[in-house]
Amino acid sequence: MVALAPSILSADFWCLGEQVSAIVKGGATWLHLDVMDGHFVPNITIGPLIVRAVRPRCRLKLDVHLMIEDPDDYIPAFADAGANHITVHAEVCRHLHRTLSLIREQGKKLGRPITAGIALNPFSPLGLLDDALPFADLVLLMSVNPGFGGQSFIPEILPKLKKLRNCIGAQGLPTLIQMDGGLNEKNVDLVVREGVDIVVAGSAVFKGSDPTMSCRALLNKMSGA
Ligand code: DX5
Ligand code: ZN
Repeated sequence: MVALAPSILSADFWCLGEQVSAIVKGGATWLHLDVMDGHFVPNITIGPLIVRAVRPRCRLKLDVHLMIEDPDDYIPAFADAGANHITVHAEVCRHLHRTLSLIREQGKKLGRPITAGIALNPFSPLGLLDDALPFADLVLLMSVNPGFGGQSFIPEILPKLKKLRNCIGAQGLPTLIQMDGGLNEKNVDLVVREGVDIVVAGSAVFKGSDPTMSCRALLNKMSGA
């Protein structure tokens, strides 16, 4: 089943707890946390503190998307805070094997699996993943340029999604594909049909009046795709 990962980037931080409860009620099983450093992307958001605050209060899989330079310096802190998945951008990792191993090692150290993900910007080539694919549990394809919520989906990403799905299939790998950016009720069925396993949605969930109903509507579309 395809999972929905609402991104709290578009949530109302004044009442974050209520917003998280609302998406749980709406059937979401993952929570996507966008971490930005003002260097890799032109925006600054949250750190491990928020992961730590959410962790004991829900059973959602906490999915940390690091849009930061030097991710190795921060991976242990996010793991300690309770992340279940940590995804780094291939564009900033000079030693991708080391970074992915570091993420998995944190899981071993803490006695619970922490999955390692690689993210690619819309126009970063899939070739960056060639050797790394067997070392990643998840590949995140950005369908907007990272940095902000509420941008429009870049449709040129679809052939890349198809190619990645075939590549993972051909190698018989269990790697999950996540898509992030500009997804909503109108286009989510399209990407699910092309083989996405996890749908990230920020504004489509939190910018309406009722995040619970928005989650249900998205999940409904996803299951009928
Ligand atoms: C963008 C972030 C996304 C963003 C998605 O840099 O990685 O997770 O929150 O928001 P929407 O769904 O509004 O495009
Ligand atoms: Zn994200």
